Amino acid sequence: MSNVIVLGAQWGDEGKGKVVDLFSERFDIVARYQGGHNAGHTVFIGEKKFILKLIPSGVLRGKMAVIGNGVVIDPGALIEEMETLEKAGIHVEKQLAISNRAHVIFPFHRMVEKVSEARENRVAIGTTSRGIGPCYEDKIGRRGIRMADFIDRGQFRTLYDLLAEDKQTLAKAFHVEEQIDFARIRGQYEEYAERIRPMVCDAAGLLNTAMRDGKRVLFEGAQGTMLDVDHGTYPFVTSSSATAGGACTGAGVPPTRINGVIGVSKAYITRVGSGPFPTEVQGEAGEKIRTAGKEFGAVTGRPRRCGWFDVPLLRYTSMINGFDSVVITKLDVLDGFAEIPVCVAYKVNGRELRDMPASIHDLESIEPVYEKLPGWCSPTFGMTDYDGLPDRAKDYLKFLSGRAGVDIGCISTGPERDETIVIPNSKLTALIG
Ligand code: IMP
Repeated sequence: MSNVIVLGAQWGDEGKGKVVDLFSERFDIVARYQGGHNAGHTVFIGEKKFILKLIPSGVLRGKMAVIGNGVVIDPGALIEEMETLEKAGIHVEKQLAISNRAHVIFPFHRMVEKVSEARENRVAIGTTSRGIGPCYEDKIGRRGIRMADFIDRGQFRTLYDLLAEDKQTLAKAFHVEEQIDFARIRGQYEEYAERIRPMVCDAAGLLNTAMRDGKRVLFEGAQGTMLDVDHGTYPFVTSSSATAGGACTGAGVPPTRINGVIGVSKAYITRVGSGPFPTEVQGEAGEKIRTAGKEFGAVTGRPRRCGWFDVPLLRYTSMINGFDSVVITKLDVLDGFAEIPVCVAYKVNGRELRDMPASIHDLESIEPVYEKLPGWCSPTFGMTDYDGLPDRAKDYLKFLSGRAGVDIGCISTGPERDETIVIPNSKLTALIG
């Protein structure tokens, strides 16, 4: 009986989609616990590519999928995703449970985000423009609308009108009122509610009952630890708890039910949006990683910023989440590099740091200390056997594991499920069973 959290160890886009898809076979339920349709989990099944933004990827394998209370849901985006899956022959309605405590995103949340990102004299966060942050603001401000009230024909209008009144005031202040038709949105959302109602339930109750009955749950994180609202590079973060702790609050499960935490990390690093990124590589090398790794956002299509592996960052994210094991993805992207720098320490003003700085100024002032490792310069793409890896690739992995103090239990060498190396007898194999 093992319930496991799989989450990103960097700034998102680590390849969690594939990892969750691969492991989901061994679980009965896959649950999302934070974020919204700002996430983009890419899963390849044969020739078909699926990008799932809200619905846990377990549905593709016929598993029960749960969207927990910590997720913010744009009903239009959810319905669109359901329809795309239906066209591919996957009827999610019977497999999907949506928490009655999850909050609803409205079009005016995107308006607030747009205005906020465009403010003069403020640095833009570089958000995904999905209304995620403003929806969480309403949640914490205790004026948001939850699924339970959204599907309640008697309640919704009253609550919506109150929220709309607030936003109308804001829209007026920012001179955008003529762009928002509040009455039309209400009508549209009433239609959405009809479609979504059958799937809304007490998801925490469902998960706890299932676990008590011996069912195994895989909790699927979105974004990554460094985008967590508390532990990430604040304020250049998303607005939810993307760390392991978020799984408990965001799904309504006690910590005592979680048996393990698996981190997912690329063999290098990427980031989208603004904010500190100590090992970012500009110029030719950065471009080479971007091209080899096809590093363009799954949701927004934005080119991702690319950089070298950062050991202090993995050490930090491992401390915050308590990784039992780590999956290293996209090792093959480094196949063409004769020399691979790895950041082993941080310095600020010439002094070595022991901890991850909290202040944005210190984060931006980090001088990475690199060690250069020899590249393996031979293809690892699609490899499935650890022993078959070039010795220098094995040395690279051992270096990361040793310096960051983490167990590496699995290596991904391509987008397909079978382009994977699971290290026999690692902590990871014990966890996923
Ligand atoms: P928001 O989540 O749209 O508010 O964006 C906040 C920050 O998180 C921005 O830098 C986004 O680029 C980043 N972000 C949000 N979701 C993802 C994701 O799924 N992968 C990578 N970055 C993300």
